Amino acid sequence: MTKAIMGTVEHVLETLHLASDDAVPVTPPTSKKLQALKEKYIKAKQEHVFAFYDSLSVSEQAALYEQLSGFDPERINTITEHALNSTKPKDDKEKALESGLEPLPESATASILDSAPQDITKWFEAGLDLIAENKVGVVLMAGGQGTRLGSSDPKGCFNIGLPSEKSLFQIQAERIRKVESLAHKKSGKEDVVVPWYVMTSGPTRESTEKYFKENSYFGLKEENIIIFEQGVLPCISNEGKILLESKGRVAVAPDGNGGIYQALVTSSVMKDMRKRGIQHIHAYCVDNCLVKVADPVFIGFAASKDVDIATKVVRKRSAKESVGLILLKNGKPDVVEYSEIDAATAEAKDPKYQDVLKFRAANIVNHYYSFRFLQTIPQWADKLPHHVARKKIPYVDTEKGTIVKAEKPNGIKLEQFVFDVFPTLELNKFACLEVRREDEFSPLKNAKGTGEDDQDTSKRDIMQQGKRWLEAAGATVTSESDDSGIEVSPLMSYGGEGLEKLNGGTVRAPAVLEKVAKNDG
Ligand code: UTP
Repeated sequence: MTKAIMGTVEHVLETLHLASDDAVPVTPPTSKKLQALKEKYIKAKQEHVFAFYDSLSVSEQAALYEQLSGFDPERINTITEHALNSTKPKDDKEKALESGLEPLPESATASILDSAPQDITKWFEAGLDLIAENKVGVVLMAGGQGTRLGSSDPKGCFNIGLPSEKSLFQIQAERIRKVESLAHKKSGKEDVVVPWYVMTSGPTRESTEKYFKENSYFGLKEENIIIFEQGVLPCISNEGKILLESKGRVAVAPDGNGGIYQALVTSSVMKDMRKRGIQHIHAYCVDNCLVKVADPVFIGFAASKDVDIATKVVRKRSAKESVGLILLKNGKPDVVEYSEIDAATAEAKDPKYQDVLKFRAANIVNHYYSFRFLQTIPQWADKLPHHVARKKIPYVDTEKGTIVKAEKPNGIKLEQFVFDVFPTLELNKFACLEVRREDEFSPLKNAKGTGEDDQDTSKRDIMQQGKRWLEAAGATVTSESDDSGIEVSPLMSYGGEGLEKLNGGTVRAPAVLEKVAKNDG
């Protein structure tokens, strides 16, 4: 693609994608400009957004004009209509007709559970070499609002109750420091850097930036942490109308983790990656406390296969577990939600191994991208579908001018999903790596006390992993209860390595093993 076309496409993306921290102008538009904008909204039958315009102060008028100019109301209508049509629940007949579902072929998959140890070591070494060459970057998706968790701070700031009281951001930062140090040790190269691109959104950006600053970037260099912002879309009523959150502002929500693609292009991230020579990218979700950030095994695996996207999966626990599945649909890699397949498909056994499910590759939203592939974003980002999330959205009643707090879902948020890009790939450019759930996946989704994917399960999974690591290193772990474990600082061990000195020792759980050292090596 030529530079000129690239520029135009990026401009189109920008107009679809309004970052909510745009400076608020104080000068209201001229009446001609205002009229032109009103006409666009009238044509799309969304003119109610101007209901209170005349009663606003000058700066409020300017801000509303600015916000509304950032949206194309016709396009909002179109994506809403598409999203609503595609979410109509499928009946059993339709589910059974869901054509051409097959597990990914063996050529596109590998499993840590049964790969030869020498293969895993080979990938690890290759990945570490790429890190040492400063060709690896990580993108963190941290733009979600974490509504189920119910914390007012961004999820990454959350303290999951570890003895060290480290937050998710700190754990991830320390894993980056450790992997840099492992690569430095292997190669002898100075200044090994894994840049950390942190995607935030209107609701999470400011507090994320503040948190990183207050914590001195957790020992990483500020220049290697690039905080950027994804776009937002208006919230829509069940009747298809754009909702106002106040008389002078449209209610908006982040455009889903699939907003990552547009955001990479409209922010400075792609330029920064290009400048640094990044070739391999690991992208992951903020809420997984076990995530192996910049995992050398994963990078080495994907790079050796020369794919454009690779994804990690864990084994589905049972036919009924509500997880999305990575599979082949009509010959293309895809994700199918648990609600979209019929019971017979969900329960089918693998013809080769009767004790496991045929469709068992559970999606954990943990991806590898080649930089070469990310460069093509402007060609397709706009075509990814939007999905509907039904929510309770406070809004202003445009007849009465009062704020209504909904008691049941009264509207929708429109979201793109990061994995919707999979079917655009040919199978030979896609790969899937099955990893151990207990080592790599424990998401923080729900409020304390839920008993599932909450802070207690996150803490438990980190502590149990530490205990396993120590025992594998030859230490004895004693404890009064089975559920206490050992927190091993990521600065001490990235994936269980480097604990040999504890061989023969005894550690009483619960405990935290923290490394206090001048450097991380
Ligand atoms: P979830 O879909 O679980 O959403 O996000 P959430 O915001 O964490 O939680 P709920 O649904 O509101 O309770 C999975 C990952 O995708 C990111 C989240 O930050 C999380 O890492 N995400 C989600 C974004 O980066 N942007 C979004 O617009 C939505």
